[in-house]
Amino acid sequence: MTQRAAVILAAGKGTRMKSEQPKVLHTIAGKAMVHFPIEAASRLGIERTVLVVGHGAEAVRQETGDCGIAYAVQAEQLGTGHALLCAREALMEFDGALILLAGDVPLIQTDTLEDLVRQHEQAQAAVTVLTMELDNPFGYGRIVREDGAVVRIVEQKDATPSEQALNEVNTGIYCFDARFVFESLGKLGTDNAQGEYYLTDVLEMAVKEGRIVEAALLNCPEEAMGINDRAQLADAAERIRRRLNREHMLAGVTLIDPAQTYIDAGVEIGPDSLIHPGAHLKGKTRIGAGCEIETGVVVQDCLVADRCHLKAGSVLENSEIGAESAVGPMAHLRPGTQLLGENKIGNFVETKKAVIGKGSKASHLTYLGDCELGQRVNVGCGTITCNYDGVNKFRTEIGDDVFVGSDVQLVAPVKVGRGALIAAGATITKDVPEDALAIARAPQKVLEGWAAKRRAEQKK
Ligand code: UD1
Ligand code: CA
Repeated sequence: MTQRAAVILAAGKGTRMKSEQPKVLHTIAGKAMVHFPIEAASRLGIERTVLVVGHGAEAVRQETGDCGIAYAVQAEQLGTGHALLCAREALMEFDGALILLAGDVPLIQTDTLEDLVRQHEQAQAAVTVLTMELDNPFGYGRIVREDGAVVRIVEQKDATPSEQALNEVNTGIYCFDARFVFESLGKLGTDNAQGEYYLTDVLEMAVKEGRIVEAALLNCPEEAMGINDRAQLADAAERIRRRLNREHMLAGVTLIDPAQTYIDAGVEIGPDSLIHPGAHLKGKTRIGAGCEIETGVVVQDCLVADRCHLKAGSVLENSEIGAESAVGPMAHLRPGTQLLGENKIGNFVETKKAVIGKGSKASHLTYLGDCELGQRVNVGCGTITCNYDGVNKFRTEIGDDVFVGSDVQLVAPVKVGRGALIAAGATITKDVPEDALAIARAPQKVLEGWAAKRRAEQKK
């Protein structure tokens, strides 16, 4: 096997996206588009990948900084031939098969690239172009053949009517002999309808030099689909979602309606989990086995252990959910929430930087922020940790087996010792010792007959 390198073109502006953001940073399944070709290439066993950046270069570099790739800058977009030429320096020493990809073609599969490179190597070709047949080839470069052999590519704007009728087109993905292509690019001109340096012209050069030019026909044209606008972005995202969801289903996850289940690339889900339509699992989320995730649940960067039940409409962010916990419906777990297991966090409960011990429950209408709860604590309906005085945040600590009655305010900093009981309606401003009862509310006054008397007066 010869050595392999990849160049990914990503300097274009992406005008049709109508965006402040460089095109290749728009996301698909939670990941910037440019990562898809980078990953497809890295799975090929590549020596070196060079990303050609231009528009938004700094942002693109930042996004891909951890990918172990090299960069080349194309300051001005003078055409695809010029773009590849910009990568020459970064590949100075390289001699072998150079795979050219585009940052805005995210659906390409490693298997397809592997076949392309293998065909290229077996034929000892100078260029192998990946082609596809389209019913409507408008806009693409057409593959011109003579006696069956590829002789050149002609762009839409330069094509004669008979060439325009050809429906085998250039996907924009190629394998080149690196030495050959960099030598040829130096000789490119711009004598064409767009006044650009066309990479495609190197095919004709190869033919003229008596070098071998191959074409590999792509069976599944969706793989070469390029993203130019947001409609195509949504279309590609749908296809990628379908692939990812299929992988989850084959790994033992039930998706009631995969077309409406939104799982980011890289999310892990254990077997026998059941996901309802409209769930969004995002970022670095990991879901255990045997979980159920209902409609409208959004999980961002969370670790959810086995057999948890996330009920409809709940939002979980940067949190850890211990095994056999139930959350929601309509609960909000904000960053820094840690449920240690067998917890129940019920409807309209909000948590933030809250460590909640095993078996503890807050079933209704509660805010738990900057707090630590022991085991088996019961938090009554309407409880609030008052953690903020307008300037600083303070902590609430609650020991094991505490019972917090309904409608309690815990004015932090405050500690409640283990086994204590807090009466309903209390505003707790001082620490409560272990096993104590704390009541903090005005004593009840009863005025017999008062209401009847008032009604009678109002009728007059
Ligand atoms: C190109 C091909 C065409 C092919 C089509 C497939 C040429 C001359 N034509 O056309 O045969 O059918 O792709 O989609 O190559 N880019 C740069 N710098 C530049 C120009 C482009 O980085 O100066 C990048 C773009 O960001 C994009 C890719 O190269 O990722 C393709 O460029 P684009 O302008 O879309 O090529 P087409 O004109 O569509
Ligand atoms: Ca173009």
